[in-house]
Amino acid sequence: RVAYVNGSFTPHLNAHVHIEDRGYQFADGVYEVCIVIDGRTYDFDGHYRRLERSLNELRMPAPMKRAPLEAVIRELLRRNRLRDALVYIQVTRGVAPRNHPFPPNGAEPVMVMTARRFNVSESDAKAAKGVKVISQPDIRWGRVDIKTVGLLPNVLAKQAAVEAGAAETFLVRDGVVTECSSSNAWIVDKSGVLITHPKGNHILGGITRETAIACAQELQLKVEERAFTLEEAKAATEAFMTSATSFVMPIVAIDDSRIGDGQPGPIAARLRNAYKNKAC
Ligand code: PDD
Repeated sequence: RVAYVNGSFTPHLNAHVHIEDRGYQFADGVYEVCIVIDGRTYDFDGHYRRLERSLNELRMPAPMKRAPLEAVIRELLRRNRLRDALVYIQVTRGVAPRNHPFPPNGAEPVMVMTARRFNVSESDAKAAKGVKVISQPDIRWGRVDIKTVGLLPNVLAKQAAVEAGAAETFLVRDGVVTECSSSNAWIVDKSGVLITHPKGNHILGGITRETAIACAQELQLKVEERAFTLEEAKAATEAFMTSATSFVMPIVAIDDSRIGDGQPGPIAARLRNAYKNKAC
């Protein structure tokens, strides 16, 4: 395997960053995850724009424009002989002696990229069965709209899911479901209206969420971007989550409550299909 580290391609095993990288010491960095299927990057425009936004919010310079970034991804895939891949892009503020404020003379941002095989049929098989989720308090900070590498609460929430035999965790803040540990949360009400938490500081504005909203509209489905409670979710006709790596993933149980008849719902299935056709 080959990784990209600050301008060069290196064997994955020897791909290192310095111990005083601010990403390592302060989680002072941002990232993106996107999926490539058959050599085509899903929703790349959205992922690139969100990367720019995250960098901007942290007052970090963009280390690379869109075209060269795409060229690096292509080369990374070529060197790893991948057609279907999960691509990870990370940019940190750089290396400097440990001190909380930004390095006074600036630092060279450190950009790394990895790619690994992504199995679409495995994802489709999971979607055909649907997944379970649990719920936990959302203990994250007030700017989760920035896609930073500071993911410890997300790690703990996902670990709790794994230990409960579930795929994800609904995060609950002030009584409402914000999103999941690494995906956006959706429900469908009795009239077939799709509901998902509005954008703002308490969710990551998912690129898949955005494309799924556009797909829903094309399918003549109504979408309401509003907060919903955990109780509302448990009583919903359908539930699902969206992310670059899960596309549209039907949810069949929340905690101990079965959703609908315990099978993936028809709306989630239609949306998943539409998303897969539209996003690339
Ligand atoms: N996670 N919410 C959170 C907290 C996320 O970490 C993610 C993505 C999403 C969905 O965003 P998108 O549709 O743009 O992938 C929502 C990625 C996949 C990850 O951390 O691996």
